[in-house]
Amino acid sequence: MIVAIDGPSAAGKGTLAKRLARHFDLAHLDSGGLYRAVGLKLLRAGQDPADEALALAAARSLRPAELSDPALREEATGKAASIVAAMGPVRQALLDFQRAFARTPPDGKAGAVIDGRDIGTVVCPEAEAKLFVTASDEVRARRRSEELQGRGEIAIYARVLKDMRERDARDSQRSVAPLVAAEDAFVLDTSDLDADEAFAAALEVINQKIG
Ligand code: CDP
Repeated sequence: MIVAIDGPSAAGKGTLAKRLARHFDLAHLDSGGLYRAVGLKLLRAGQDPADEALALAAARSLRPAELSDPALREEATGKAASIVAAMGPVRQALLDFQRAFARTPPDGKAGAVIDGRDIGTVVCPEAEAKLFVTASDEVRARRRSEELQGRGEIAIYARVLKDMRERDARDSQRSVAPLVAAEDAFVLDTSDLDADEAFAAALEVINQKIG
């Protein structure tokens, strides 16, 4: 069983995906972490994330240990991630890993919950359940600011909102695997829902789908 959770940044996909994975005893993959790891690798090497050849080399040489670096969650990393994520060859290089995870989830799990931007459209179009999780720009920017502040990062709301809109625009307007809801996805707007309410709503949708 594959559950695909897509949506724009800071819509609450990660929290929701983790809870759903726990509930259904499935593996969880945060696909954004792969793009973030590529971006971070370039930043750390002092390389330009917009250089496609270097980005592709970074994607091809990713190691599992690089997926748990705390710096992955930094805003600068998110920006670099969305730059490399617009490159077709980089996406292709990361596709095999994601599909293999879906086909053979780790720890003998019977399936996976995967969150990202193109899981329901490109990576796993055959997923049993697809959710497109979204929220208003303002609510998402507030959540992201709180998340950053919670980790001790300086986060100015207006700046976070501006950066988030820029990143969403880049993700939505790129020619390869743009951020868009799959035709058969259920759109879950969490603007007025807390994490528990979003989880309950998602559960209802998925239970209906899988009968
Ligand atoms: O945490 P947040 O929702 O802000 O972002 P993320 O899910 O960690 O993704 C970081 C960036 O990776 C996004 O802005 C996308 O450009 C890219 N991404 C993608 O293109 N496709 C995916 N399946 C997941 C992430």
